[in-house]
Amino acid sequence: MTDTPLYTALLEHRQKNRASFHTPGHKNAPDAIPPDLLSLDFTELPDTDSLFEAEGAILAAEQQAARLFGAKRTLFSAGGCTLCLQAMLYLAAPRGGTILFDRVLHRSVVHTMALLDITPVWILPRPTAGRGLPGRVESRDVLSALREHPDAKAVFLTSPDYYGVLADIPAISAVCREAEVPLLVDNAHGTHLAFLKKNLHPLFLGASATACSAHKTLPVLTGGAWLHLAEPSFVPDAKRAMALFGSTSPSYPVMASLDLARAWLEESGRAAFAALEDRASAVRELAARQGIPSPEGGCDPVRLTLRTAEAGIPGKDAAGLLRKHGVEPEYADVAQVVLIATPFNSESDFQRLETAIRALRPGKAIAEAAPALPALPPMLLTPRQALLSPAEELPLTAAAGRIAAETACPCPPGVPVVMPGEKITDEIADFLHGYGIFSLKVVK
Ligand SMILES: Cc1ncc(COP(=O)(O)O)c(C=O)c1O
Repeated sequence: MTDTPLYTALLEHRQKNRASFHTPGHKNAPDAIPPDLLSLDFTELPDTDSLFEAEGAILAAEQQAARLFGAKRTLFSAGGCTLCLQAMLYLAAPRGGTILFDRVLHRSVVHTMALLDITPVWILPRPTAGRGLPGRVESRDVLSALREHPDAKAVFLTSPDYYGVLADIPAISAVCREAEVPLLVDNAHGTHLAFLKKNLHPLFLGASATACSAHKTLPVLTGGAWLHLAEPSFVPDAKRAMALFGSTSPSYPVMASLDLARAWLEESGRAAFAALEDRASAVRELAARQGIPSPEGGCDPVRLTLRTAEAGIPGKDAAGLLRKHGVEPEYADVAQVVLIATPFNSESDFQRLETAIRALRPGKAIAEAAPALPALPPMLLTPRQALLSPAEELPLTAAAGRIAAETACPCPPGVPVVMPGEKITDEIADFLHGYGIFSLKVVK
């Protein structure tokens, strides 16, 4: 065989045999997904249905998932949560317009704003989760944004965020219902929330639609996701919306793994996640005894976010130490390490993690984990105008005063300081410099 750099890199990574505390949720465990899915990698045949014209097996599998999650309609995606987000935004604003957005969002959402010519109005999170974290959008801020923008076609939130921090969906959905505006939730990290001891899934709590990255926390192959709809007016056009953005070659193994995960959730989901809640809470308590807190307030009980900067340990250093103990985290920044635990982590994975946490040597809290953010800059172009224009990369000194063609989102706290179409103020340029960011793409 000729040189196979990627395949070889994957084999080498597997050889390290690290405990996986990152996506995908199946953790490569032999009992998570049947290993013979290769033999089921078929295409659209008379008896295998077709994703975007589903009327047979795929439709039946989607209906089963809808029943389980209590959705009016559920749609399969083999193009990740990204495809679900694109379709969800299309359903709310097919010809563009204003949407009220949580400022903390995934880049696929910003790209979709450009595709659909959506104009964002930002709702800033309040820092209620602790230092170094973005925090939560609150219902009172949603209410005032809705009053100021009666033309808004939807409210869009990310909940839970990457750190497991949950917005108050019941309160926010009540405000949206009152204003007769749909609430769209990027629930990429919360697909499993319906199976916890207390159902925390945003669809159950009142969202009009949720985009769920099933592969992140369930036994689903990478790329498998669900779009759940509660809003009846979204249902008739939903398949068309998915087809507008999706590949015509969706992977059958990925879709089959969604179907299998739904069956697994029905049979074993509640018990498996209840056990995981207990195990995750034991890890959290151990970390707390080491002086390492978790995010404050309402959070996903199975997401492990170790706020190591509070114990004087930069998150990236802590991640390095975890790796030395054979643990691969999902993500680390200056302030924290994020670990994604699922029922497919073994007890030995957790023991390795606990050994690593015990080896962290706490010290004095790192104050830079809580920088004061610069003021929101003025929006001079829409995301569509900025992202579809020619752009050039400039050193920050020259970029000040120009219009951003990309998002700059230093972490912590993970709140974008400038978005495409916004002016790069001197204050923003200084702030980014402080983070070691020295250049930015600007509109030409
Ligand atoms: C909050 C959020 N939304 C959406 C996505 C996109 O999900 P996917 O990779 O399944 O397309 C991600 C991916 O990390 C994410 O973190």
